[in-house]
Amino acid sequence: MPPTTPNPANPPLPKAELHLHIEGTLEPELAFALAERNGVTLPYATEDALRRAYSFSDLQSFLNLYYALMAVLRTENDFADLAHAYLARAQAQGVRHAEIFFDPQAHTSRGVPLGTVVEGLTRALDTAGERYGITTRLIMCFLRDQSAESALATFEAARPYLDRITAVGLDSAEVGHPPSKFKEVYALAREAGLKCVAHAGEEGPPAYVWEALDVLGVDRVDHGVRCLEDPELVARLVADQVPLTVCPLSNVRLRVIDTMADHPLPAMLDAGLLVTVNSDDPAYFGGYADDNFTAVRDALDLDEETLRTLACNSFRASFLDEATREAYLKEVEAHGRG
Ligand code: ADE
Ligand code: ZN
Repeated sequence: MPPTTPNPANPPLPKAELHLHIEGTLEPELAFALAERNGVTLPYATEDALRRAYSFSDLQSFLNLYYALMAVLRTENDFADLAHAYLARAQAQGVRHAEIFFDPQAHTSRGVPLGTVVEGLTRALDTAGERYGITTRLIMCFLRDQSAESALATFEAARPYLDRITAVGLDSAEVGHPPSKFKEVYALAREAGLKCVAHAGEEGPPAYVWEALDVLGVDRVDHGVRCLEDPELVARLVADQVPLTVCPLSNVRLRVIDTMADHPLPAMLDAGLLVTVNSDDPAYFGGYADDNFTAVRDALDLDEETLRTLACNSFRASFLDEATREAYLKEVEAHGRG
């Protein structure tokens, strides 16, 4: 989709994006440009033909395309260009802080060294404050449909880069790959001073959310929408104010939820859960951060105060230092109040 042009008369709410796969920001235009630069042939003749493939029946049907398109990402420059393209779009959508996932194994398995990925991404992220007015963090994800040994090897290979990585995460095909499979690597990550997050309760059952909390010791749960099936789990998440990074457009596109009007976001807020709104893989799911805010506002009739609560939650749930968090919260409070 074309980048949103900021409207200075009506700027979007300041917000943090806490659930964003950088590989999921690969727009068709950039995919074709990188394919040409790297001599890679895509299995689609045109950008439109590629866009027509963006119709998913479930998480796996999306992941098949998501991993296939990564073939165009080969050099440091490719990863830097990808991150710059995301940051420009994020800025136009009011994103002031972004905690960005990347999938090292999806690249190292294709012969792209981990250093190429991290150096390329950090080269762009290092300019984000000055060029886009956005603070950033990096979150390294393990692919849960790969082995626990592969996750451990990835973590060891990442040790030279840990000063640039804030947290570890867990993504890819959820069902059949419970969080407990990754207990050891999460213990190592925590020992190394990293924060921990994990996708759980997207397609997987509430039991996976319990495991993410009790076995992995996560600081946040990514998605987590299926927690609503287990009142005891909801009570736990509310009591500990564990943030949930919910991705509304993703949920509809991947058929986790039937329609946006059915999204349980209001019920989650009413239950006292610390919910945030995020874009997941915006190039594939039809919108970036503010597009998700707009989609839930329109379909669920959310008022301005609720949107402001969601924006505040995004900063509260972030891994920012307290002073920067407070400064952003003040921006949200001041927004649109003349
Ligand atoms: N990788 C990229 N997007 C994902 C999602 N929504 N769930 C699990 N893994 C992913
Ligand atoms: Zn995700």
